[in-house]
Amino acid sequence: MDSIAILDFGSQYAQIIARRVREAQVYCELFPWDAPQEKILSIRPKGFILSGGPRSAYEPGAPYIQEFILKSGLPILGICYGMQALTLALGGQVDASAHREYGPAEIQPLVQGTMLDEISKVWMSHGDRITRMPEGFVALARSGNSPYAAMGDMQRKYFGVQFHPEVHHTPNGSKLLQHFAVDICGAKPEWTPASIIEASVERIRLQVGEERVLAAVSGGVDSSVAAALVHKAIGDQLVAVFVDTGLLRKDEGEQVASAFRENLHAELIAVDAADEFLGALKGVSEPEQKRRIVGEKFIRVFEARAREVGQPRFLVQGTIYPDVVESSAPDRNKAERIKTHHNVGGLPEDMQFELVEPLRYLFKDEVRLVGEVLGLPEALVWRQPFPGPGLTVRCLGEVTPERAARLRAADAILIEELTRAGYMGKPGSARSSNGAGPEEIQHVSQAFVVLLPVRSVGVMGDQRTYQEAAAIRAVTTEDFMTADWARLPHDLLARTANRIVNEVDGINRVVYDITSKPPATIEWE
Ligand code: XMP
Repeated sequence: MDSIAILDFGSQYAQIIARRVREAQVYCELFPWDAPQEKILSIRPKGFILSGGPRSAYEPGAPYIQEFILKSGLPILGICYGMQALTLALGGQVDASAHREYGPAEIQPLVQGTMLDEISKVWMSHGDRITRMPEGFVALARSGNSPYAAMGDMQRKYFGVQFHPEVHHTPNGSKLLQHFAVDICGAKPEWTPASIIEASVERIRLQVGEERVLAAVSGGVDSSVAAALVHKAIGDQLVAVFVDTGLLRKDEGEQVASAFRENLHAELIAVDAADEFLGALKGVSEPEQKRRIVGEKFIRVFEARAREVGQPRFLVQGTIYPDVVESSAPDRNKAERIKTHHNVGGLPEDMQFELVEPLRYLFKDEVRLVGEVLGLPEALVWRQPFPGPGLTVRCLGEVTPERAARLRAADAILIEELTRAGYMGKPGSARSSNGAGPEEIQHVSQAFVVLLPVRSVGVMGDQRTYQEAAAIRAVTTEDFMTADWARLPHDLLARTANRIVNEVDGINRVVYDITSKPPATIEWE
């Protein structure tokens, strides 16, 4: 399949560039700027996109464009730092600007009929600028702050833009990337859910042959779509196991079982281990210890099932592309990488499996599209993230069966209200009950109830109550690394709080969490 190689110079937006190119249905991969030549050329790219980056291209030791890229004769698009590195590599000049330019700006095209035709408002974020273009280049656009907001060498098909076409703040920016990939590089837009499925099916068959393959389905999007893909490839050779930990949300177990049995016509071994998990959690309230107990129990239950079904050689894992990229990206991600390790519900390394990772090259949005085409229900495909240790992280203090049930009931009310008002599920698919169009509704990325180990006084009827408090958490986010609290309408919050207090035994107070991440996290624990 035709592809584009994106070189990451340390930009926080590198993955977004890749997503935009994929949205244009062109396959692309991200590589650290200094990745080995064989690795980058192994995808046989039709062109290169160079990302932004935090450094100054003229500093000693700054990332640079490897020689083989310039020698390849293929088109290049440099974005921000990428444009500056390209300028220096070709003999132009880059200097520090008098002041850093950050935020919205406007550009004026200087040449008609280029990929900048539909762009005027842009997003800038740079401290350096080009003061002399390399030979062969013409200025394609200027901004108030720079005579070379965009430049191009039409002969060599080299382009540079000082702004960030990949972010939403640059309207039509994705068209620029599409134009570069499809029209300038000539990459055929063949990356569709159907072709992804076709290629994966082939790869899975090749990898596993006649062997049986085990999958742990958690009810999450990734593990479900991964298992569904493997099922499409090898049918009954797949042994899918779903462990009900008793720490799932309301109806989750039934939904997963019916998705597999009814939608996919796949076997699913459902293990009811609720008593075992809740038993092990008895008397424990320290968060790390709770996580550990759930993680270990999960492994034990899963191992037992694997033995029962004759210990298959292969195991499906729902690793997705951002996990792969983050483990090899330049320095900036080191801090964030910690995140991937807190994923309990994972399996031990000493289990002797060979991994089948059918989602290894897919972004989350692509996983969802593939899931839909495979026939998984919308409710599952558009499900919000749910932590591996389940409700333990949302049931602060000891997780007793009674408190888990209380939390599950309150959470179900919140989700029901948000779904009815059009805030959850597939973005843009629901209509608000007050008739507002979906475009007026800010989609909520993740929402849940947290049960607090705090009791306070209330009054119900003529009775004084002394019961637990619950917190509502609802956030909007692109990547879950930063998040903002959702500005939900007051009447929606009021209705939800009312219902929780009235319908759920043991809760007499509801609060709304209005902290963003950072400094808070999304989960409370
Ligand atoms: P935090 O709370 O760190 O969460 O802001 C970021 C995202 O990660 C999810 N999360 C987890 N997911 N296992 C998971 O699979 C975990 O242990 C875990 N802890 C947090 C959280 O729900 C949010 O989407």
